Order: sequence, then C-alpha cells, then structure tokens
Amino acid sequence: MGLSRLFVRQVRTIQRQARSMSYQLKFDKAFVNQKWVAAASGKTFDVVNPSTEQVVGAVPDMDENDVSKAIDAAGEAFAAWGQTTGKERAGVMRKWYELLVKNQDELAKLMSAECGKPLSEAQGEVVYGNSMIEWFSEEARRIHGEVISSPVKTKEMVLIRQPLGVVSLITPWNFPHAMITRKAGAALAAGCACVIKPAEDTPLTALALAKLAADAGVPPGVLNVVTCARPGAPAVGRLLCEHPRVAGISFTGSTAVGKVLYRNCASGVKRIALELGGNAPFIVFSGADLDKAVDGAVACKFRNCGQTCVSANKFLVQEDVFDQFVDKLQKKMKALVVGDPFAPGVNLGPLINNSQVTKVTQIVEDAVAKGAEVRLGGKQVPSLGKRFYEPTLLLNVDPSMVCYSEEIFGPVAVCVRFKTEQEALSIANSTKSGLAGYFYSSDISQAWRVAKALEVGMVGINEGIISAAEAAFGGVKESGFGREGCHHGIDEFTYVKYLCFGLSQ
Ligand code: SIN
Repeated sequence: MGLSRLFVRQVRTIQRQARSMSYQLKFDKAFVNQKWVAAASGKTFDVVNPSTEQVVGAVPDMDENDVSKAIDAAGEAFAAWGQTTGKERAGVMRKWYELLVKNQDELAKLMSAECGKPLSEAQGEVVYGNSMIEWFSEEARRIHGEVISSPVKTKEMVLIRQPLGVVSLITPWNFPHAMITRKAGAALAAGCACVIKPAEDTPLTALALAKLAADAGVPPGVLNVVTCARPGAPAVGRLLCEHPRVAGISFTGSTAVGKVLYRNCASGVKRIALELGGNAPFIVFSGADLDKAVDGAVACKFRNCGQTCVSANKFLVQEDVFDQFVDKLQKKMKALVVGDPFAPGVNLGPLINNSQVTKVTQIVEDAVAKGAEVRLGGKQVPSLGKRFYEPTLLLNVDPSMVCYSEEIFGPVAVCVRFKTEQEALSIANSTKSGLAGYFYSSDISQAWRVAKALEVGMVGINEGIISAAEAAFGGVKESGFGREGCHHGIDEFTYVKYLCFGLSQ
C-alpha cells in the first residue's frame, strides 16, 4: 500500500522547498482517533527548518481539552486492542513496518527538513526507527507468563502479563522517528493504546508515522498524535501524566523535564519510564588501537551534530597516548563537512534551534574565558546560516568549566588527560548522569573491570555506536530508569498479574 496522496504531496513540497524554500507543508492537523483534527481554539504553531529558518509547516497548538479527547479516544480503543492476541497485533505491526520501509526515503526527507540532520543520517535513523517496529512486531507473540512452583499442593500459581492500558509517549526532537517507534512499538506490541506528544520542533515525522500506522490497519484511537507549542507544553505534559485514564508514561528528553513529569506521575501513582540526559565518558587507554578509537570517537561524538543523549561528552585519554590521540582526532574532525543537510557529503547540519546555539556558544565561551585551548573550530558558521556551529575541539579543560561537567549536546569535543585507570573511572563516574559510557582498551581484564565499574546503563567497549532494536537502551542515576528496545522494552508497558488457583475440593 502506498502513502496517502496527502503524504506524497507533503514530501514533494519538501523536495521543492529544498529548491525554492517558499511554501507551507500540508500536514497541518493532529491525528486523533484516525482523524485529522485542529485545535478547538484554531491556534497553530510553525515548524521551522533549522537549516534555512524557513517555515515548513504549521500544526495545531492543542490545549488540555483537545488532548483529553485524544486520551478518551485511546481509552475507547484500548477496550478492543487490549483484547487482541499477540499474533493479531504482530500482523498489523508487520504491515506498519512494511509501509515504513516502502516510504523510507520520503520519511528521511521529511525528518531532515524539520530537524536538520544530514539526509544520509536521517536515512540511517529511518532504518533504525523502522527496525523497532519490525522487532516489536516479532516480540508481540512472545509476551509470556510464568508458572510458579507452588509451595503447597492445594494451590497453583501463575503469572500473566497484561497491557498497562492507555500510555502517554512524550518524545524528543533529536530522533523524531526512532524515539517514537522505540516506545510505540513496545506499547502496541503489549496491547496498549497510546497518545504521542512529539517535540514542538519536529511534529511532522510523528504525523507521518501515525498516518502510515493507520494505513497499515492500526485501529482508530490506538495511536494518536497530539501537537502543542512550547508555552502550552507543561500543562499538556501534566495532563498526559495525571489524566485518570492514563496508566503510564514514557518520556525521552532532558533530566529537568523528566523530574517534573516524575513528580506529576506521583499523584496518580502512574507507571513511568524515563530516558533522560547523558554525560558519556569516552575513555582511551594506552594500549588501545588509536585509529579505531578515533573512528569510534568521531562517530559517537558527532552523530546528529552532537545532539544525542549517548554522545561522548568528555574524552578521557591516558597521558602517554594523549597527544597522538588528539592529533588524530583533530585531523578527522577537520575533514567533517558542515552544511545544508540535503547536500551530498555533508556530515553536520545545523543545531536544532536558537536556544541550542546559545547554549553551545556559551559553553565554549565559558571554557575559553577560563583558559581552555580551542584546538579547532570554536565558533558559528554565519555563511551557512544562524544555527550552524563548527566541529570544535577543546583542550586544557578543568572542572571549573561547564563543558567538563555538563552535557554539551553539540559538536564540541573535550579532551582530558589522565594517569591511571582508577583516575579515569573516578572522573567518569563523578557525574549525576549515567546513560552510556565508552572505552577503548586491548586488555581483556581491564575491559571487564572497567565495564563493570562504569556507573552507566550501556557500555561501548572498543565501539562508539551501540544502539540497536535488539539491545536494552536506558540509564542509571539521573539518566532515568526503564529500558527501551530489546524484550525488556515490553516490560515498561505490561504489568505482572498473579493468579492463585485454589485446588481444594
Ligand atoms: C537519544 O539520543 O536519546 C537516542 C540515541 C539512540 O537511540 O541511539
């Protein structure tokens, strides 16, 4: 089944925009109960291409009343969807996956236009995001219970897993496709109905995903997308946690917002899964293969222009290989091409919005003011547009600088020298976050020791790119809790019910 004419028209419009940059997109409604709906107020907000700063679309600025209707629709839909068999859900989800694959080029263009990632990277994200639906369509048939060994002959004890119910999925702008499919795939496979609130910056990809889900046969109300502008987001976010029909939420985004949502969920004791900010250490030990370490470092750091929760935040390099590593890293970084996301060969697009530009600029200015050396980059690229920033390499950094302790979320690599494994671990673990960590070593005992000692949820050992639908994604400490992807992803959307059968006659 092909895309609806609406979607095809929208994608063509984006392609035209790459040439003429002078039109409005046609995905201009939210998607509730399989209908395109406006906000009752009639208000909309613009979606802006971060590369050109042109408006590429406008979507409804929904308030709590609008969003309540989506939650109600999900509640009605759950009554039937929650009763389907895993095999039935698997069939529908497989069709969704096939439509996603069929339309992968259009999805990648749509995503590049609203989030600014280079087209080749957007294509990679689409493959990654699609794989979540493929994976969870397979997992839907394997949501099993357990038979417990009863301690007495008069009882049989069984555990079954049931869907939570209606779930709210609040997703970020940095992966507009994969962060939705990683949550919605698990939720749908478990038998939940969902209300998705995509980030204000990137609602168009979410709407396209929802349309394709409907085309695949996901029933009305099972997958809804609500849109709202930044000012209304706290109230809508609160409702998505507190509404009596919502059983749980899953959020990916900043730690600050995650804490607010966690508090909101407390009043109704709602289930919550949080995938929050990271601050990944990337350690290079002296025995490591430095060429591989540099390749891994560049892939890890500059993915999505550094705007990735699992991006390396600080490179910790053992003193005897420090200079060599830095020289190699500088050389690779110099070869990175910054530019129009639709142009071939571009590695880094723009930052998502002006507040990100301000944040990255301030982080570099703070480091320089406190004595850091800018080995490469260190400024915006006005010739390309307001949101482009050079790949930047900072040396001589110390704990007084923001770049040393805070998540950078931009194309700024920071290198720190260390002497011993113990020192590296103590720097790596001296943060409140604990999402991912990486290290390069050729010593097997060290690999096991360090992997266990890093206070993170995921570790890349001689590897800079670790994400996959099959693996468990998630953090510890203030990076949140709950796991996405993998069979564990289903756990966030089911609860265990204990059945005790009395056998006395
Ligand atoms: C993220 O930045 O939160 C997601 C990155 C990934 O899934 O690899």
